[in-house]
Parts: sequence; C-alpha cells; structure tokens
Amino acid sequence: MIWRPNPGPQTTFLKSRANEVVYGGAAGGGKSAALFMLPLYWVNNPNYRGLYLRRQAKYLGDAIDKTNRIYPELGAKLALSPRIRWVFPSGAELWMNHCEHESDVANYDSFEFAEVLFDELTHFTETQYRGIRARLRGTDRSLPYWSRAGTNPGNIGHEWVFARFARWLDPSHEDHAEPGELRWFVGDEPSSKGAPLALSRTFIPARIEDNPHISDAYRAQLNDLSPLRRAQLLHGDWLRKPARKDYWDRDRVQIREGLPLASDVVARVRAWDFGATSDGDWTVGARLALLSSGLVVVEDVVRFRGDPSVVRARFASVSAGDAELDARCIQTIPQDPGQAGVDQVASYQREFPHLTIRPRRPSKDKVTRFGPVSSRALAGNLAIVRAGWNDTLHNELESFPEDNYDDQADALSDAYAELSGVGPPREPSRGADDVTESDRWGNAAGRGW
Ligand SMILES: Nc1ncnc2c1ncn2[C@@H]1O[C@H](COP(=O)(O)OP(=O)(O)OP(=O)(O)O)[C@@H](O)[C@H]1O
Ligand SMILES: [Mg+2]
Repeated sequence: MIWRPNPGPQTTFLKSRANEVVYGGAAGGGKSAALFMLPLYWVNNPNYRGLYLRRQAKYLGDAIDKTNRIYPELGAKLALSPRIRWVFPSGAELWMNHCEHESDVANYDSFEFAEVLFDELTHFTETQYRGIRARLRGTDRSLPYWSRAGTNPGNIGHEWVFARFARWLDPSHEDHAEPGELRWFVGDEPSSKGAPLALSRTFIPARIEDNPHISDAYRAQLNDLSPLRRAQLLHGDWLRKPARKDYWDRDRVQIREGLPLASDVVARVRAWDFGATSDGDWTVGARLALLSSGLVVVEDVVRFRGDPSVVRARFASVSAGDAELDARCIQTIPQDPGQAGVDQVASYQREFPHLTIRPRRPSKDKVTRFGPVSSRALAGNLAIVRAGWNDTLHNELESFPEDNYDDQADALSDAYAELSGVGPPREPSRGADDVTESDRWGNAAGRGW
C-alpha cells in the first residue's frame, strides 16, 4: 500500500464512474493528490494513455515532483522526449503537459486518450476543456474514456465551471443535485440514464477538513488571504464571485510616489472607523488630502484589530503623526447612536484637545455613502500614494459591497465627505441643507470640479 485515499470526498472522487467529474473546492483538500492516483487503476493495460494537464507549463514541475514520489515505486520511468510522460512497465503512459493558449488544443488533434486529468480547471477556458475532452476515445472497452478535474473556485474559468456544474453548486437550481450524484446530458441538454449518447456528470466538493495531512501552518496561510480568496480557498465557497469592480478598479486609480507637496494641499482629513472587537471588525484610519488642482489623494491607511484601549493608543500615535505633517489635519471619529456615542466623542475631544476631532454619524447606507468616492475613483480623478497597504485597500474595494469587510470603504467615505464639507454642518446658519454635494465641493476646493 503506497498511498491510501482519505475517507470522504477523496474516496468518493476516486470511486466515481461518471464520465465527467470535477472535484472542486478548498485548497489543500487533496484534489491534485487524487488526480495522480487515478491512472494507477489502469497502468497494467498497455493501451492506457492518460493526459495530466495544467494550463501553464510552469506548474508541471510540482506535478512531476509529486508523481515522482509514487510512480517509480510501480516501476514507472519518466521520459522527457519527445514529450514528458511516465511510462509504466506494461507500456501504459501518462503524459504530463500544458495547454496555455486556446490554439494549443490543436496540438492534441491526432491523439486519443483513455483519461484526461485537468488540474486547476478554473485556469482553463471552456473551449479548451471541450476541445481536449473531444480526444477521449479509443477502442479498448476496458478503458474509461473520461475526464477528471480538480480545482479551486475563482480564476478566469469560475463562471463557466459554475454554470456547467450549477446543479451541484447553485443551491437554488431547480434540479439541484447532491455531491457525487449523477446527472446525464446529451451535449449540454439534460437527458436521462440509458438515453442514446447520454454521458454522466457529477461534482464533488473538496473541503480542507477532509484532508488530515494538512498542517496548521498551511491553514494559517489561507486564513491570511483577502476575504474573497479566503472564502474560495479555505471554505471552498463557489457562490462568492470574483471581484466585480462595480465601485472601484485599481487600474483607474492614479498612483503617486510620495506625499504631495505641502504647498499643493488645501485640506487633510483622517477618518476613523472603529471596529467592534467582539465581531472581529477592523479599525481603519484613512487620510485623504485635497489638492489645489482638485485632485483627491489617499495618503495613508492604517488597519488593525484591537480592543478600545488599543484603538485609543493607535489613534494617539497616528493622529500625532498627522498633526506633525500638517497642523490643519482634521480627525473624524464615528459617533454611535445614543448617549454612549456622544460620551465617546467627548472623551476623545477632552483627551486630545490639540486636535480638531469631528464626529460623524453614519447617515444613509454604506453603498450610498461610498458613491461619491467611488465615482471619482472610477472617473480617474483619485490618486493613491504607493505603499504597502495599497493591495489590501484595492482588494476590499474591488469587491465592495459583496465583501465581508467594508471598513476601509467606510473610512474613505467619511474622509471624503468631511473634505467636501458634506456631513455635520460646521456653520448651520448657512442653511447647509440646501447646498448640493457638488456645490460644497466647489467651496472646499475653491473652484468647481
Ligand atoms: N490520501 C492522502 N494521503 C497522504 N497525503 C495526502 C493525501 N491526500 C492529500 N495528501 C497531501 O495533502 C497535501 C495537499 O493535497 P493536494 O496538494 O492534493 O491538495 P489540493 O486540493 O490539490 O490543493 P490545491 O488547491 O492547493 O492545489 C499534499 O501534501 C498531499 O500530498
Ligand atoms: Mg492541487
């Protein structure tokens, strides 16, 4: 016994007789390991020719290393020419190859395979998948002529894989199927078992908990990903879609090297969103600058978790840095509803009398509040100072409002509103409520934008 499948989905996957099986979900569930085992059913048959495929050649090295720990035990030898393949003593072969471009499908035109193993299926296009699957044929009736795939959610192929296996992945599908349950299709049309030309399909979810060989360190690494990637890779969640970029797109944000010149800055605001430690929220402080040119620059973002005393200590040091840079810099803090909120603001104002601290009461919903920053960013009129926090910010905002986290969006909304003069009116006698947002922007910038 050189290898034993894990009980649960890995075993179900290895036992399935369906014509088309996808084993998909969490990273580390044991998908690739199972793919490498599949050919071993057939390698005593000299007519077996299998194809293990990755989209890109650079990933094949890892697959060769892993198979190299097992196949030689069975007498297999790795041949490198004319193509990389394992040759078993019977003459059975497993080709290890890649298919990067759609036109690469044609490289397989004259070949027949008993089994094709797609690793990381969501890296492939549907055209590649269909094209390669068309090579599944032969005359030895003891061989399977089927495809198997392992994959995580996400990546460029997420949508087509989801659509093809929607019966298993979409809980609201009218013909919902359980993991490993078979459905029959003729082409893409649903059919039934035994119908002429009908082929069976199934999907088996991979979960990291089902693989006892996974270390805590690996799990910790997955925990550190953005919420979207964590949902996809740690929880194998197919319903969380790739970032839609409806409200933010990093490619449309200007990048600046370093802070703007002091003489160009009209106003600076750092807005804080205090997290409630009980629900693991982040505390975020985002500083924005308004330049005389009208450009708004995201200059700095701090983001951390901690109880109220940690938050207060970080507030003290960060706001001191802001004041040193620009004595006019305003700090805004959220004012929770009720007396507790009023008291908290008052206590901050008492403790930091040298700062301008303004309360902000969340009016409207998050999406509405983020609207002004969002439209400015998408229009290319927002800049960000290049720094280590950039990616975390982009990741959250590109999936806003679907992401679990929106603390950075909130902080940006507040800072921007404060800069624009929207929000708690400073001089109520001016009849601030009648002024539109763009009017206020005009006032704040000293010119219309
Ligand atoms: N049945 C098993 N027996 C021993 N080790 C296993 C078994 N299944 C998986 N493993 C080991 O667990 C680790 C993760 O498995 P594998 O790489 O196959 O996961 P994966 O689902 O393909 O992950 P990824 O999504 O990151 O590609 C590997 O080190 C693999 O060798
Ligand atoms: Mg893998």
